[in-house]
Amino acid sequence: MVTQSPDSSDPLTPMPNNPQRPRRLRRTATHRRMVRETVLTVDDLIYPLFVMEGEGQKEEIPSMPGCYRFSLDTLLEEIHELSRLGIGSIALFPKIPAHQKDNEGTESYNPNGLIPRTIRAIKQQYPHLLLITDVALDPYSSQGHDGIVRDGNILNDETVAVLVKQALTQAEAGADWVAPSDMMDGRVGAIRQALDAEGWINVAILAYSAKYASAYYGPFRDALNSSPQFGDKKTYQMDAANGREALKEVALDIGEGADLVMVKPALAYLDIIHRIKQKTQLLVTAYNVSGEYAMIKAAAQQGWIDEKNVVLESLTSMKRAGADLIVTYFAKSAAGWLSVAD
Ligand code: PBG
Repeated sequence: MVTQSPDSSDPLTPMPNNPQRPRRLRRTATHRRMVRETVLTVDDLIYPLFVMEGEGQKEEIPSMPGCYRFSLDTLLEEIHELSRLGIGSIALFPKIPAHQKDNEGTESYNPNGLIPRTIRAIKQQYPHLLLITDVALDPYSSQGHDGIVRDGNILNDETVAVLVKQALTQAEAGADWVAPSDMMDGRVGAIRQALDAEGWINVAILAYSAKYASAYYGPFRDALNSSPQFGDKKTYQMDAANGREALKEVALDIGEGADLVMVKPALAYLDIIHRIKQKTQLLVTAYNVSGEYAMIKAAAQQGWIDEKNVVLESLTSMKRAGADLIVTYFAKSAAGWLSVAD
């Protein structure tokens, strides 16, 4: 091992008789609270929820223990509990029956479809709950892709035209923020223009700007039965190896009118969250995805890690990296843990 002599020009090199003792400020819980740089609160959290047709249904998702597909009535009961816990915002994802799926995702803009009906029912009972809806074709696509497929390719502009109809349908039903997660080029601008033209100037766009082609989405696709029927999503979602490209995607989305930008997944992409935060004044959102949830749940169920502490440490790391908001399946548990002072 090479040993280096102390370099007096490097302030981090301990000098003999250095009076600095960082441990002084870690001595008690009160000290640690006072000097804490990052504080996670329930207002940082967005809870994703899965909705399906039917009545009295609440199906646990096998690869996401503690997460369920709800029919509208049980969803409303769940939301009652969430508001009690102080959760201010939810993101809705639909499980669409196979017979309503087609290559064009036609059901995605049915004004009486599952999502518009769900939005209206929630808004009637919980007008202050901030509702975020997913704009993408995959839950509605017989191909399990986020766009229209022709000859094995995902068509961009034809898909954007459908996404615009979907976003307008959601805005009309009462969505507060529409969140395009499809990664088609130009969709944020097209959606913004259409919303403004129809008078939905106060509906915001939460853009999945840096969404990676990730293996961490598996459990989510189980939840919605929305896995790609062929190939993968690498021609539209980003390559995991690219960082600068995320800055390009963010710049484009801001230029097109995004109100907030998002990085997805979160934990393997904390550097991306950090880099984006340095470049924009817009709020940065992190999506702590299904695979990240499943890993912690699985290890905790084995008794191999302490769930509460691992979850709070992970969520705090996302905020420390630069996330202002975090979409997480742990929102409900975290809201409970955060309400009890330690
Ligand atoms: C699809 C979409 C996906 C997720 C959110 N929206 C999956 C995908 O892109 O295949 C994943 C969320 C998660 O894994 O928690 N538009």
